[in-house]
Amino acid sequence: MARAPASRFVCSACGHDAPKWMGRCPDCNEWNSFVEETARPAAGGRAQAAGPGRAVKPVALADVRAESVARLRTGIGELDRVLGGGLVPGSLVLLGGSPGIGKSTLTSMALGNLAGAGRRTLYVSGEESAAQIRLRAERLPGAALEVPVLAETDLDTVVATLEAELPEVVVIDSVQTLVAPDLTGAPGSVGQVREVADRLTRVAKRRGIATLLVGHVTKEGSLAGPRVLEHLVDCVLQFEGERERFYRTLRALKNRFGSTNEVGVFEMRSGGLVEVADASARFVGEATRAPGSVVLAAMEGSRPLLVEVQALVSPSEIVPPRRMTTGIDRNRLALVLAVLGRHAGIGAGTADVFVNVAGGVRLDEPGADLAVALAVASAVRGVPVGGEGGKPVACFGEVGLTGELRSVAHADRRRAEAAKFGLEPVIGPEAGTVRGAVRQVLPGARPKAA
Ligand code: TYD
Ligand code: MG
Repeated sequence: MARAPASRFVCSACGHDAPKWMGRCPDCNEWNSFVEETARPAAGGRAQAAGPGRAVKPVALADVRAESVARLRTGIGELDRVLGGGLVPGSLVLLGGSPGIGKSTLTSMALGNLAGAGRRTLYVSGEESAAQIRLRAERLPGAALEVPVLAETDLDTVVATLEAELPEVVVIDSVQTLVAPDLTGAPGSVGQVREVADRLTRVAKRRGIATLLVGHVTKEGSLAGPRVLEHLVDCVLQFEGERERFYRTLRALKNRFGSTNEVGVFEMRSGGLVEVADASARFVGEATRAPGSVVLAAMEGSRPLLVEVQALVSPSEIVPPRRMTTGIDRNRLALVLAVLGRHAGIGAGTADVFVNVAGGVRLDEPGADLAVALAVASAVRGVPVGGEGGKPVACFGEVGLTGELRSVAHADRRRAEAAKFGLEPVIGPEAGTVRGAVRQVLPGARPKAA
């Protein structure tokens, strides 16, 4: 008797699959995330597993032919840098970001530049009509209007069109809107997204098409549903920033063809995204000299970046008082506050403390600790941070639990960047302790003995 097609249950958060439904995923601990999927009869899969395979002679790595392929430059410097030098033919890039951040704008601009450079391109949109895409393209510089579009959600049609048109670069906006008609499950469900990505990967590899998949992120900030996608693709880019702000950062979370340290900075203008090549100049220019503000010499990947870190300490009736951060980890603030109180004689007490990294930049490095400490100290004392004669300074360094300052990577590049903007001296780990650093830059406010 023929067995009914087996169904399985897949976690929509992490893709874990199980033969029966479960309330909680044993892999990612998400509740209520299992959805049923009817497995497609794998074409020949069973036969392959049962029948004897054909032995193949492995090849020594040194004998493997690996031609170095020319990368496709998108003409957007910041994007090319984050990609590791441009798009690799036949590779898959996943671009994630929340709605309205500018994913469609960025990919349209990239395709426009490529089309302008004589490359065959294709923009597949399952979200917008061709007319809407045109309206956007009209605002964009370059050859954005030359890009052929396909407003389609049917995966079969998209794959057939790719095979017929053979573009060198294709954008799929977004991977969650395409549907494989032979599969149950709503668009965007794990099964659908995996199938869509899987089939697009096969076409991309076979035909050497560089494929940019646009993906939405959930409100928790992870790529919606398909963790599975992250394993499939060669490169995962994350486009972040706050919608109300101008600055957007693009970083690589995974990159098989380059470093994951690079960060691109953009600004959304009326004519599309503009690269902010010299972000430091912008941030330093905007920095205030008021109490609670300090310039941090940060590293964004391999690039030094000066950003302003601001703190506000305000009396509060709320118990426990608020500790809010934007752009840095809240736990780091808690640690810095504890060290300030215990080792530098600067306590925030029961006041609310807010710390903000200006410009919507997110800092993800221990080197930011000292800036947080100095900004808070300056806010508590009500004295602006300054070197001798009130000259503006920059700082960096990790704060240890005993109040010591620890060295962080790329000290020389941070200093050089600060010097470029006349921020001297740079308060770094040489100051020894948090207390020492506070003394140096807040001369008017002698910390009392701890
Ligand atoms: P969009 O690229 O559609 O975002 P996503 O695809 O990530 O959802 O555009 C985001 C926002 O940017 C949108 O609200 C309009 C704005 N925008 C500009 O400010 N200037 C422009 O030139 C364009 C094209 C869009
Ligand atoms: Mg969009």
